Amino acid sequence: TDKIIIAPSVLSADFSCLGEEVEAVCRAGADWIHLDVMDGHFVPNITFGPPVIKAIRNRTEKVFDCHLMIEPVDSFLAAFADAGCHYITVHAEATTHLDRSLQAIRDLGCKAGVSLNPSTPENVIEYVLDRLDLVLLMTVNPGFGGQAFIPSVIDKVARVKTMIGDRPIMIEIDGGVTPETAPLVSRAGADVLVAGSAIFKGGADRYAANISALRHAANN
Ligand code: DX5
Ligand code: ZN
Repeated sequence: TDKIIIAPSVLSADFSCLGEEVEAVCRAGADWIHLDVMDGHFVPNITFGPPVIKAIRNRTEKVFDCHLMIEPVDSFLAAFADAGCHYITVHAEATTHLDRSLQAIRDLGCKAGVSLNPSTPENVIEYVLDRLDLVLLMTVNPGFGGQAFIPSVIDKVARVKTMIGDRPIMIEIDGGVTPETAPLVSRAGADVLVAGSAIFKGGADRYAANISALRHAANN
């Protein structure tokens, strides 16, 4: 595909000037902004929540792609919709009633995503395909930036692509995405690539080159 979507994860940005970082990465060619929300319970790290997302919302018109690594999740969905998220993605492992969570996201006027940890089989999405706009396949265990890509997920990308068929559902890949790993997942069917360390490394002067390196690698 030559229309891969690049979604920088602000987890690797400088939080002391997050608004400027969002503006810089958008100027550098980001398609979406990926927002990693962690609760110290579902994952062993804590990041930020709706007030921070709301604070940076006016810095760009780009799609806000919110990845919720929180449990419970249903009681927080409205706050993330109000904060201005377009896509809201929940972990299948973090909600007992996945069908209900996905319906709730669409009822709030957002696009609904489900994320699967590397060890979670793809069959958990079989009966909710018609409620999905996006499937986020983790290629690391969630919680931290800068971890190594787990190659066993490449086969899962291809299987999910087959399951989706002609439904309008995007496949997003998150974790360890670099110019080396991007072609492996884009060839298997990925539509959206999240990258934190591969984009934010080297400082703002490098963001445009880092994004185009990923885009070029994914499209070839
Ligand atoms: C991990 C997060 C990722 C992370 C990716 O739990 O979901 O979005 O920021 O970081 P890199 O690209 O450095 O692996
Ligand atoms: Zn993420």
